[in-house]
Amino acid sequence: MKLSIPQKLIPLSVIGIAAAAFSGMSYAAVNAEAATALIKTSGCLKCHAIDKDKTGSSFKKIAAKWKGKGDAEAKLVDNLTKSPKVKHKDGTEEEHKVIETKDMGEIKNVVGWILSQ
Ligand code: HEC
Repeated sequence: MKLSIPQKLIPLSVIGIAAAAFSGMSYAAVNAEAATALIKTSGCLKCHAIDKDKTGSSFKKIAAKWKGKGDAEAKLVDNLTKSPKVKHKDGTEEEHKVIETKDMGEIKNVVGWILSQ
C-alpha cells in the first residue's frame, strides 16, 4: 500500500520534535553515567543518596530546593569546588568535600545531573 510508508514516518518525526523541545528546556547534555561515576569516586555517596537523606540531603531534595533558581548551577559549582562550610544536623560545621576533578565540564555535568533528580 502506498499510504503505509508516510504513516510510519509520522511517529518518528513526532518523537524527534519532542526530543528537540526537551533538550532546549533542561540540562540537555547531562551524561548520567559520567556524573554518577564521578560522584562515586569522589565519595559523595558517603553522605548523599539520590532519594534518601543521609548526613547530607538527598539529591532529589537538593534538586527541589534549587528548582527554578537561575543561579543554581553557579551555586552548586561553588559548593563542589570551594569547600564552603556546611552544617550537619547536629550543628557541627565541616568544610564540604571538593569534587575529584578540575574539569569544569565534568563538574557542570555532575551539577546538571543533581539538579535533574
Ligand atoms: C562528609 C559528608 C559529605 C560528603 C562526603 C559530601 N557532602 Fe555534600 N553536603 C553535606 C552536607 C552536611 C551538606 C549541607 C546540608 C545539605 O544541604 O544537605 C551538603 C550539601 C551539598 C549540596 C547542596 C548545597 C546547597 O546549598 O543546597 C550539594 C549539591 C552536595 N552537597 C553535593 C555533594 C557532592 C557532589 C559530593 C561529592 C563530591 C558531596 N556533596 C560530598 C555532606 C557531604
